[in-house]
Amino acid sequence: MSESFVITVEPLGRQVVCRDDQPILDACLRAGVWLPHSCTHGTCATCKCDLVDGDVDHGEASSFALMDFERDEGKLLTCCARPRSDVTIEADIDVDEDLEMYPVEDYVATLVEKTEIATDTVRLVIELDRDIAFNAGQYLKFTVPATADGAADSVDRTWSIASPPSEPRRLEFHVRLVPGGRGTAGWVFGGLAVGDQFPVSGPYGRFVLHTGEDNHTIMVAGGTGLAPIKAMLRHGLENAAYDGEMTLYQGGRSREWLYDVDYFTSLAAEFDQFTYRPCLSEETADQVAASGGDPAAYAYGMVTDVIAADHASLSGCKGYLCGPPLMVEAALKTLMSRRLFPRDIYREEFFNEGDKAGGVNSPLIKR
Ligand SMILES: Cc1cc2nc3c(=O)[nH]c(=O)nc-3n(C[C@H](O)[C@H](O)[C@H](O)COP(=O)(O)OP(=O)(O)OC[C@H]3O[C@@H](n4cnc5c(N)ncnc54)[C@H](O)[C@@H]3O)c2cc1C
Ligand code: FES
Repeated sequence: MSESFVITVEPLGRQVVCRDDQPILDACLRAGVWLPHSCTHGTCATCKCDLVDGDVDHGEASSFALMDFERDEGKLLTCCARPRSDVTIEADIDVDEDLEMYPVEDYVATLVEKTEIATDTVRLVIELDRDIAFNAGQYLKFTVPATADGAADSVDRTWSIASPPSEPRRLEFHVRLVPGGRGTAGWVFGGLAVGDQFPVSGPYGRFVLHTGEDNHTIMVAGGTGLAPIKAMLRHGLENAAYDGEMTLYQGGRSREWLYDVDYFTSLAAEFDQFTYRPCLSEETADQVAASGGDPAAYAYGMVTDVIAADHASLSGCKGYLCGPPLMVEAALKTLMSRRLFPRDIYREEFFNEGDKAGGVNSPLIKR
């Protein structure tokens, strides 16, 4: 039977009860005490904070995200640490007054749509057993079932909500196949079928549209990094939540790797404040024309080169970057070279279990 302990969160002075088999972050988010976090699996170090008093088990924290000397110095990752006594932690909590953060809750989801939308990419639509409150850009945790032969237990995987908060029961997701991955190759691209039911929890994350601002936002999406950005764009434009200009750079090798191009093209035609720049890195204008496509509909080159060519300066803008860690880092460098400060760049890196094992922390990205 599990035991429970009291977690005191400073400087808030809030107290939360946490089971000894429960990560401290989980207990806090469920109690409505918001702590910084991103990956929730011990890889990104966003949730690192000080252990002021008490004992914890560091769990599955990666040795890259929480180094041995940091453990000795009394640091912990709240997404992995489980209490072994009453505990006091001190976290660096940056509160955005314009943003209401909603507590994490459990839901039962039913899969109502699974459609292939690009190479190795599917759109999932789920219906929840009740409405969920979230901010545009947040994500859910899906419980991937144990393998049928019992060789592996259930695991949690995180996928970003691609639909806006105005649709609180029917949620859209974009998932890309990762060869050898438990959640994608082993489930979403395997046996998962329309009608299946499974547990999800959320909302998680801090990569959200900051609606109190009206700066020109430059949004950069690689692969399914488009998902949270689509939620933000739909919220900002269709729900009239954002007044400023919004430009989306969507990167893909060729047209077969891009998706929702028609949707964003029509969104750009409808809203003057929105500019859409789909970028092809390995397909040329001649190839697009030769296959009957419209070469003028695309930009050519790496998404970072297209941004650099489009803008001599992005001073005063805000950046939103999402996708694989290496793409996010490259885009971060490009935006900084165009005079955007890191504090004006919001980002979400899609870390997976392989990244956790290999260590991916960039010296550019301060946690
Ligand atoms: C905040 C957040 C939001 C995300 N949103 C999305 C989204 O909207 N869409 C999306 O497609 N993805 C998203 N991701 C990524 C997603 O969570 C998964 O990481 C991804 O789908 C792969 O999951 P998987 O279970 O298939 O792979 P995993 O099981 O995590 O494996 C990934 C790779 O690592 C290898 N691997 C596994 N374990 C180890 C190990 N111990 N040592 C070495 N290698 C190992 C596997 O063979 C595989 O190649 C998001 C990630 C984060 C952090
Ligand atoms: S949220 Fe804890 S390491 Fe990423």
